[in-house]
Amino acid sequence: MSALLVLLLSGPNLALLGERQPEVYGTATLADHVARASGAAERLGLSLEHLQSEREGDLVDAVHGARGRCDAIVVNAGAISHYGWSLHDALATFAGPVVELHLSNPDAREPWRHRSVLAPVSDGTVAGFGGVGYELAVEAVSRLLRSSGTTSPRR
Ligand code: DQA
Repeated sequence: MSALLVLLLSGPNLALLGERQPEVYGTATLADHVARASGAAERLGLSLEHLQSEREGDLVDAVHGARGRCDAIVVNAGAISHYGWSLHDALATFAGPVVELHLSNPDAREPWRHRSVLAPVSDGTVAGFGGVGYELAVEAVSRLLRSSGTTSPRR
C-alpha cells in the first residue's frame, strides 16, 4: 500500500531563506527545511512533495492539483498568508487536513502580519518555532490524518 501524501507549499521569498533576514528566519535554507519535513514524514510513514513559488496563482494551482491526490497540506505562504484570499478559497475546497506554518511568530511582529487569511481554512497553525516547525507541522497533519481515520491514500 502506498503512503499518505502530504503537500508542503512555500510562498514568496522563502527561496531566499538562509540569506533573508537571518536574525528573523535563521540561517537554514528552504532546502534544509524541506529535508527536515521530508525526514519527519518518512519517520511517520508519509510521503511528502514540495512546491515553492513567488506567485499566488501557482499556489492556488497546486492546491487544485492536490484535490483528490494529496491527503494533507502544510502551507507556509509567506506574506500571502496575510492577504491571499484566492489561496484561502482554494484551501477551503481541499478535503484533508491543512496546517499553516510560519518560521517566525507573526503575532509578535508588525501589525499587518497579525491577520492570517489562511487561518480560517486551516486546522491549526504552527508558528514561532523556526525550523523545528517543519517537523511539528508534519507531525500535526499525521495526527489529524490518524484521528480522522485516513489510512489509505486519496488517489
Ligand atoms: C513567514 C511570516 C510572514 O509574515 C512573512 O511574510 C514570511 C515568512 C514565516 O515563515 O515566518 O515571508 O511566513
